[in-house]
Amino acid sequence: MTKNTLIAPSVLAADFANLQRDIEMINNSEADWFHIDIMDGVFVPNISFGMPVLQAISKHATKTIDVHLMIVDPDRYISTFAQLGANILTVHYEACNHLHRTLQAIKAEGMKAGVAINPHTNVRVLEDIIQDIDLVCIMSVNPGFGGQSFIEKTYDKVFQLKEMIQRCKSNTLIEIDGGVTNKNAKQLADAGADVLVAGSYVFGAENPTATISDLKKITQ
Ligand code: DX5
Ligand code: ZN
Repeated sequence: MTKNTLIAPSVLAADFANLQRDIEMINNSEADWFHIDIMDGVFVPNISFGMPVLQAISKHATKTIDVHLMIVDPDRYISTFAQLGANILTVHYEACNHLHRTLQAIKAEGMKAGVAINPHTNVRVLEDIIQDIDLVCIMSVNPGFGGQSFIEKTYDKVFQLKEMIQRCKSNTLIEIDGGVTNKNAKQLADAGADVLVAGSYVFGAENPTATISDLKKITQ
């Protein structure tokens, strides 16, 4: 059976001095989404980039913009990210006290609603809300930095989450974020992942376009 596993290059690993070039590379590649990492230096120990950079990306990007917020109190910025062109807005489970309300607020702004879980968070905590979630992002590294090694436990989490999604008859997509390479992409897709984020593996390659094609090919 062939499946269409989506590939989402993470712009965090792009060359910011040549951002337009790297955005055009994604536009012209077999990539499906742009993955945009927003960090606040509080929820995670790093600061990436903010609104003006996302605005610049949106101006040129011709594909779905998948924004991953690694920030505390994300509710403050939901409408701002909608205005900046986000199509999918993902918040962290660990950063939300009222996740149900946050997801409704994201959808009310016309975006798909995602929930990311850190490596220490069990997928079971999402069971009562899975039908309200368009995308679960399983962090396969500790959020905050690109270029880290993939955590092997992730495969079990994908299996568990897939089982839960099917049992609850939900349409939720499973996204994997962190340390994705050609070594784990097929196994992740086979386990049930629908979207693979890849940063340093794509942008660190000699030929990023060919690397995206390769990821696409091995995961179908
Ligand atoms: C990590 C970010 C990831 C990161 C992935 O906090 O959420 O999206 O860009 O980078 P790689 O693919 O290099 O692990
Ligand atoms: Zn991310």
